[in-house]
Amino acid sequence: MGNCGHESHGDGIYDVVGIGFGPSNLSLAIALEECQAGDPARSLSVAFFERQPEFGWHRNMLLPDTTMQISFLKDLATFRNPVSRYSFVAYLHETRRLSQFVNNQDFFPTRQEFHQYLEWAAAGFADRVSYGAEVTALRLPRDAGPGPAPYVELEVRCVGAAAPTVVRARNVAVSTGLVPRMPEGVARDERVWHSSEFLERFGRLNPDDLKNVAVVGAGQSAAEIARFLHDALPHAQVSAIVPSYGYSVADDTPFANQVFDPGAVNDYYFGSDRTREAFWRYHRNTNYSVVDDEVIRDLHRRSYDETVRNARRLHFLNLTRVNDVQRLGNVTRVLLDSLLDGVPRELEVDALVFATGYDAMEPTALLGELDRYCLRDASGRHRVAREYRLVTTPDLACGIYLQGGTEHSHGLTSSLLSNIAVRSGEIAQSVLRADTPAPSGDPGAGGPDTAHPAPLPHGSR
Ligand code: FDA
Ligand code: NAP
Repeated sequence: MGNCGHESHGDGIYDVVGIGFGPSNLSLAIALEECQAGDPARSLSVAFFERQPEFGWHRNMLLPDTTMQISFLKDLATFRNPVSRYSFVAYLHETRRLSQFVNNQDFFPTRQEFHQYLEWAAAGFADRVSYGAEVTALRLPRDAGPGPAPYVELEVRCVGAAAPTVVRARNVAVSTGLVPRMPEGVARDERVWHSSEFLERFGRLNPDDLKNVAVVGAGQSAAEIARFLHDALPHAQVSAIVPSYGYSVADDTPFANQVFDPGAVNDYYFGSDRTREAFWRYHRNTNYSVVDDEVIRDLHRRSYDETVRNARRLHFLNLTRVNDVQRLGNVTRVLLDSLLDGVPRELEVDALVFATGYDAMEPTALLGELDRYCLRDASGRHRVAREYRLVTTPDLACGIYLQGGTEHSHGLTSSLLSNIAVRSGEIAQSVLRADTPAPSGDPGAGGPDTAHPAPLPHGSR
């Protein structure tokens, strides 16, 4: 069995296959390696498949001077293993920047530096990752005998290969990331972009042709792109279409930030519906539709400066949403809905960026025929055990783990980096507990799978 350059091995069934090789599965690769290191008897066979041609973390948003939204200590490993050789500090040490970084007295590296760190860590797993390899389907083994299926098959399409490869795995970690969201009915093209494709699309056009541009949204992506366009196009009018009255700040103050602590996962998971609702009601503004203080102040300062000079080219269209987009040659007409006076307005631009956010990872399509063995809660969402394993009927003996798409069961950190070191460790330990029975449950039951690990007492987190 060939699989995009990996050697066949043993019985031809991998112990763990990771779908996607972003930070989450990179962190899992590290956790699997480090968790086995203390047990020479165990040697799991592991492979990851990544559709990008090389490692890349939101490359199209690697804007100059943008910073991380987590402390450098929330890296791929430190919260699980503070002496990991894959920590951000180990990276700084190896690149001889540790003293300089410390002298900088800043918890938040630039996104460019963190990207370099991630690339450095990913390079350590080159023998286990296939790039240019997209997993297109999961299915039961074609030669499955009677009884629970002990492994699943994955169809992988590798760049340059004439036909898809089939890979077999006892455990699968699905980590395919956020899904860009556009307003309903709006299509992307060479002048209408989502923020996730920003730098690539921007680079394809001649900046001199961009005299009027607009950015939609009031989140971090929108604010960063508005600032970038203001810098990169000094001759252009830049409009920010802001659905709120003005950008709101991301709450990263110490008490609110506790929602990203590893212990908050238990509080959310084992809490009641009221608990979970309270997390979202009080703390959505730690992450969604909010902007870092520094970027807000920078944009306001620019705007004020233009007013003083009577040379306005940065425009804020507040309480305004985009209803529709029409393309007329190279001109894009944006149909706006103002909540100020209800009067419909139009704006003509040469390029339009939708920084309108993302939908959470949704594994249903990828699971394909396996999805009918995965149990759902009363709201129709996948039931996920505390160790991030999908709860299945007894027909599946293999483990399917989710890294992402678990906001409903595990809370706010599901799509973020904050908890990936600990989460990956929990998944690695679950995989290593070879005798763990597959979580199974009553298809009618709702809520998280409370039959699995009991909450830790508060003092032991
Ligand atoms: P991620 O999306 O990074 O990786 C998924 C990978 O799977 C991708 O490489 C993709 O190509 C691959 N893939 C998808 N489908 C596949 C398939 N079928 N087969 C093979 N490969 C497939 N969070 C935070 O805590 N702090 C921060 O500072 C930031 N900063 C930030 C900046 C920007 C611009 C965005 C958009 C988001 C953030 N985030 C964040 C949140 C973000 O979700 C998080 O940083 C990580 O990207 C999560 O890592 P994952 O590996 O889960 O997904
Ligand atoms: P987001 O926070 O979900 O913001 C999307 C914005 O688009 C919201 O303000 C939303 O308004 C608005 N919107 C949606 N539809 C609209 C419409 N039709 N018209 C006008 N506005 C509309 O998305 P994001 O900014 O991309 O952030 C996503 C994640 O990436 C977050 O975790 C963020 O922290 C992260 N991120 C991090 C960095 C960094 O690390 N430096 C940079 C960028 C992003 P409503 O809320 O009213 O719908």
